[in-house]
Amino acid sequence: MNILLLGSGGREHAIAAKIAESKQCEKLFIAPGNAGTTACGTNVDLKLDDFKAIGQFVQTNNVQMVVVGPEAPLVGGIVDYFANDAILKNVMIIGPSAHGARLEGSKDFAKQFMQRHNIPTAAYRTFTADTLEEGCRFLETLKAPYVLKADGLAAGKGVLIIDDLQEAKQMLEQMLVESKFGEASHSVVVEQFLSGIELSVFVLTDGKHYKILPTAKDYKRIGEGDTGLNTGGMGSVSPVPFADKEFMYKVEHRIVMPTIKGIQKEQIAYKGFIFIGLMAVASADGGRDPYVIEYNVRMGDPETESVFPRIKSDVVELFEATAKEQLNTADLTVDERTAACVMLTAHGYPESYKKGDVISGVDEVEGVTIFHAGTRCDEKGRLLTNGGRVLCVTSLGETLPGAILKCIQAAEQIKWKGRYYRHDIGQDLLKLMCQ
Ligand code: AMP
Ligand code: GLY
Repeated sequence: MNILLLGSGGREHAIAAKIAESKQCEKLFIAPGNAGTTACGTNVDLKLDDFKAIGQFVQTNNVQMVVVGPEAPLVGGIVDYFANDAILKNVMIIGPSAHGARLEGSKDFAKQFMQRHNIPTAAYRTFTADTLEEGCRFLETLKAPYVLKADGLAAGKGVLIIDDLQEAKQMLEQMLVESKFGEASHSVVVEQFLSGIELSVFVLTDGKHYKILPTAKDYKRIGEGDTGLNTGGMGSVSPVPFADKEFMYKVEHRIVMPTIKGIQKEQIAYKGFIFIGLMAVASADGGRDPYVIEYNVRMGDPETESVFPRIKSDVVELFEATAKEQLNTADLTVDERTAACVMLTAHGYPESYKKGDVISGVDEVEGVTIFHAGTRCDEKGRLLTNGGRVLCVTSLGETLPGAILKCIQAAEQIKWKGRYYRHDIGQDLLKLMCQ
């Protein structure tokens, strides 16, 4: 069949690579894609918010399956647009309806959903400009640090963790009254701080059945030792060593199953990925308990770059089973090895950075997979930087240290002016394993 994948990052390159491997895939189109995705299929110049143009492309090119990478078109209702069109409703589309996408698009919606279905998460309350004073009083009842979350999508910048109570109150006012994050902070979720280790659990669901994909941990801060500004993600590893059978049993029974049952009970049309951001909090018996920090309605980036290379099954068959509500009949086989990925970024990222630098060394590295994030080719065929996160080096190894070492060795060989990467991806997990 012909397949259209929407998106342009490292996540989409990793998904495209798996789709291209499928014997079910005849033609793969990636919109808009990047310089790397051209190795998997044909890039097409479509805007992700132009559903009409996407629909026309799908019809003209006899596309039978659409896979949506990023959240924005999902929150914007692309799945509903297809469902409401006499012809497009027959096209398989992987992603939730706008109703389902509110799990990511509104933190308050997600928290209310978790409360309704008894899913463990931090205690919280939601405030608007009219209830600012109540919000300040609620902050006084919490212990530092204080967690403030803009309700809506804020390009990953809407969560603030503040140590000082007065500062937290001032920030709450700035968010609610002065619209610090625009529309997104008209409502703010104030919640209890959870202390523990974060990890990401990915689920593919057809709305009734589900498959739990490999776990991953991503590294959000720009600096080594998890310091400095937040980024889109500087690397990831999969699986997460402490997410053993006992922990994953708790995740499945306390979180995944009630989430899927909740989706069903509330008649939310959902055929796609659920990315559950978890905090593993130390429990009284010496184990760890999972709490949901957030839901996302897509795969993570750069988690996909370590999760997808471990999927051995045909992903198009998994997607087809998802679209047909037959995910219970599909097979998910996972490579037991560990994957690590290291993101190479432009100088200055996540603040202002330059584009257009010539990249060298990509064709020389061996034993790793390179996923492109922000790249393009110029008219001479040279590979150029075209974003803050530029390239992602992924490797599979028998051990976590082995996988990390291969990534670092390859990252060192790839060069452009000001190229930066973190050398400590996975090191926290290695330390934890030694404890
Ligand atoms: P979110 O956008 O909800 O994932 O939040 C961004 C980051 O803030 C998370 O990845 C966590 O590192 C942190 N965070 C969010 N909520 C909490 C919480 N309740 N307790 C501790 N850290 C949190
Ligand atoms: N890596 C985190 C995200 O994709 O939101």
